[in-house]
Amino acid sequence: MSRLIRALLAPFLLLVVTQTALAANIANGEKMARRWCAACHVVAADQSRGNTQAPPFSAIAKRPGFDAGKLALFLLLPHPRMPDMNMSRNEAADLAAYIASQGR
Ligand code: HEC
Repeated sequence: MSRLIRALLAPFLLLVVTQTALAANIANGEKMARRWCAACHVVAADQSRGNTQAPPFSAIAKRPGFDAGKLALFLLLPHPRMPDMNMSRNEAADLAAYIASQGR
């Protein structure tokens, strides 16, 4: 490959790599939601009912001002009435992205 082509391609490749690393993994978020959250929340359209007053994820995602980044932060903090999941930043981001996808 010529130097010029390589020089032109490099920034593009870097962009692709960083985008992939930053993109949250919605499929992983769904897996976690079904395992850890479905006992109380309705986490997906195919789930019939949660068993507490916990809001369905679709309702959370449709709230005005909903923001996946803020939600990911919220999930990292312990909060009353919900078990402390002790999850990593990546896991929280995946879950938040999944919840966001339920509002569409
Ligand atoms: C033991 C039951 C239970 C489990 C398990 C649970 N939640 Fe909740 N969650 C609740 C309840 C109850 C509320 C409502 C709290 C309130 O209104 O004070 C809530 C509220 C929330 C809210 C909304 C907070 C707000 O702004 O009103 C989010 C987001 C949330 N849960 C995410 C999750 C996620 C993600 C999981 C899985 C990792 C999860 N929850 C697991 C019971 C649970």
